[in-house]
Amino acid sequence: MRNNGMIDLRSDTVTQPSPEMRRAIYQAEVGDDYYGDDPTVHALEEKAAERLGKEAALLVLSGTMGNLVSLMALTRPGESVILAEGSHIHVNEAGGLARVAGLTPRVVSAPRGLITPQAVGGAMLSNRPINPLTSLVCIENTNNAAGGCVVSAEAIDSLCAFAHEHGLKVHVDGARLFNAEVALGVPAARIIEGADTVTFCLSKGLACPAGAIVAGDADFVAEARLCRQTVGGGMRQAGIFAAAGLVALDSMIERLAEDHENARLLAGILAEADLPVVVEAVDTNMVYLEVPESVMSARIFVERIKQAGVLVNPPKGKRVRMVTHYGINPDDVKEAADCIVGCLNGRVRC
Ligand SMILES: Cc1ncc(COP(=O)(O)O)c(C=O)c1O
Repeated sequence: MRNNGMIDLRSDTVTQPSPEMRRAIYQAEVGDDYYGDDPTVHALEEKAAERLGKEAALLVLSGTMGNLVSLMALTRPGESVILAEGSHIHVNEAGGLARVAGLTPRVVSAPRGLITPQAVGGAMLSNRPINPLTSLVCIENTNNAAGGCVVSAEAIDSLCAFAHEHGLKVHVDGARLFNAEVALGVPAARIIEGADTVTFCLSKGLACPAGAIVAGDADFVAEARLCRQTVGGGMRQAGIFAAAGLVALDSMIERLAEDHENARLLAGILAEADLPVVVEAVDTNMVYLEVPESVMSARIFVERIKQAGVLVNPPKGKRVRMVTHYGINPDDVKEAADCIVGCLNGRVRC
């Protein structure tokens, strides 16, 4: 996608709604959702619950809000939650888990996004009077910080079996759950079958202008609805963007395979260019590069490719993330790859 002439690989959140979404938004039948009057919101919530194999679903404004209301609904203030180092809920949601939900994080490592039962066992705190009782485990699928990695249904099953045996609930931050569905070739409902609750985003690879869904059993969704109101997330004519969500569930999921193909294309070109950088394995729509300090600082690398027309987020240490999405085609990928190779070879001077 040309964003002011730039190839924008910052995130799949920069996607523009499809023409079909824009038409659906224009034509949406809406009502006041506080009164339960918005038919398009109802249709989306029903469709999403069915797609996820859960009893009920709730539309929220963002993935962050979906995770927050899930944490609030699944726990009580003063308890603790196990989650992965670098997970979005832990480091990218402005501390809502502690500030709003009143939870103590218990952070475990999760190589390639996988939290093992052993890691949960090691991090659980009991209900002794000095401990913040551990009541929840959160996993992320796909896992962003770990490299857009996919966690299999079987791995989630065994984690959930262990957690449930010990009285813990499991929430899946599935902001990009449908990327996992497409990469694994396994329905989303099966992937999260063992988990109690899930959030997925409409606004990332699915290209909606806003919105996320939380789903679980009917009691959980009733409580999450109350928590959504607590954080100011009650909506009125939300069918305006729910209409795009319906289009996304019908027509944007299979398309994610193109993003994965483009990410593999990018990683493949960079790996073959024999550059002095590490190109991490690609599972879905993210390509992570590690730029050794001896080559150049990742910050300077990002600045140089920006000057040459490729936009990515500021690096985290040596790691630079590139995300393919609805607005990126194979020609954009080749052009971006050429620019990156040129920059690292010293051909591109800015
Ligand atoms: C893994 C993960 N979870 C949750 C979110 C939050 O989504 P939102 O930006 O809609 O709040 C993101 C956003 O990038 C994410 O990557």
